[in-house]
Amino acid sequence: MRVLAIESSCDETAAAVLDDGVTIRANVVASQIAVHSPYGGVVPELASRHHLRNIVPVVQQALDEARCSLAQLDGIAVTQGPGLVGALLVGVQLAKALAYVHHLPLIGINHLEGHLCAARLTAAGPPPPERHLALLVSGGHTALFGVERFGVYRLLGTTRDDAAGEAFDKVAKLLGLGYPGGPIIERTAMTGDARAIRLPRPLPRRDALDFSFSGLKTAVANHVRAQGTLSLEQRADLCASFQQAVSDVLVRKTIAAARLQRFDAIVACGGVLANQAIRRALDAAAGERGLALFTPPLALCTDNAAMIAAAGTLRLRAGERHGLDLNPQARLPLCRT
Ligand code: KG4
Ligand code: ZN
Repeated sequence: MRVLAIESSCDETAAAVLDDGVTIRANVVASQIAVHSPYGGVVPELASRHHLRNIVPVVQQALDEARCSLAQLDGIAVTQGPGLVGALLVGVQLAKALAYVHHLPLIGINHLEGHLCAARLTAAGPPPPERHLALLVSGGHTALFGVERFGVYRLLGTTRDDAAGEAFDKVAKLLGLGYPGGPIIERTAMTGDARAIRLPRPLPRRDALDFSFSGLKTAVANHVRAQGTLSLEQRADLCASFQQAVSDVLVRKTIAAARLQRFDAIVACGGVLANQAIRRALDAAAGERGLALFTPPLALCTDNAAMIAAAGTLRLRAGERHGLDLNPQARLPLCRT
């Protein structure tokens, strides 16, 4: 089964062509970082306008790279939500038009399910087992899900305030480092000492699976205020200490959830999992406890359409379809509980 997928939920315009839910024939991502970075965050109106400008060339490029025509597709998958509604509309509208004109089955996909499916696209090794614990850490979400099998999810814990990626972005902004914060903080932290500054690890109880990152962000802000101007070395220490605090919390909660809910496999995904230090820490902690850890390749941690195609293929294969009344949803929970 060959599926074209379109993703436009935030600030990446993306299209991918996937064969049989695993083989990536094309994966094109047009980032809008340069558009939004002067504002220190995504400006929804600008995101929609740039999606509108980029979406057709991006889809065309994906089809060209896959050496495939629309007639050779078996279906179209598109991100339905959650996300910026004006941004989602652009992708959904093009997907509907293509499905209508070419008589193709259409499926709307939850962006979070897409992130979870990115771990199926690892070139090396077997895919994750059907039943696993999923840690999703992105700019909009930080959550632990119990996955019984594809499509059957249970929310085990979520953030009570900021998402971890949002905390990276806000701390970077506070330090005047630019946008998006994650990769810049990771780079700055490389020369820093992660034990230099004492920062809180919020919600430390071992059986509490919720997250909280706003107190950590405030602690960083207070430190900056108290120090005044930071030298390059102090900035590196602060970034390393902040990254370590986020990493410790993610690792601790994930391991606790695996133990409490008796999972022996973990999928860890979302933009923040592009962070090598966090990947290494999770890998070490899982390894010590005999838990199997599955992470997407780096490029598939942040937003892309290959992950939407992976989820779309599974749903289309199961016979699911959306009609041309498919509508984007700014809020779209992955599960109710
Ligand atoms: O999954 P994603 O691309 O978009 C959402 O669905 O939100 O995640 C974007 C988030 C941003 O907050 C960004 O700062 C963070 O992922 N991120 C990182 C890294 N790369 C991206 N955070 C930490 N370290 C990174 N290397
Ligand atoms: Zn995302």
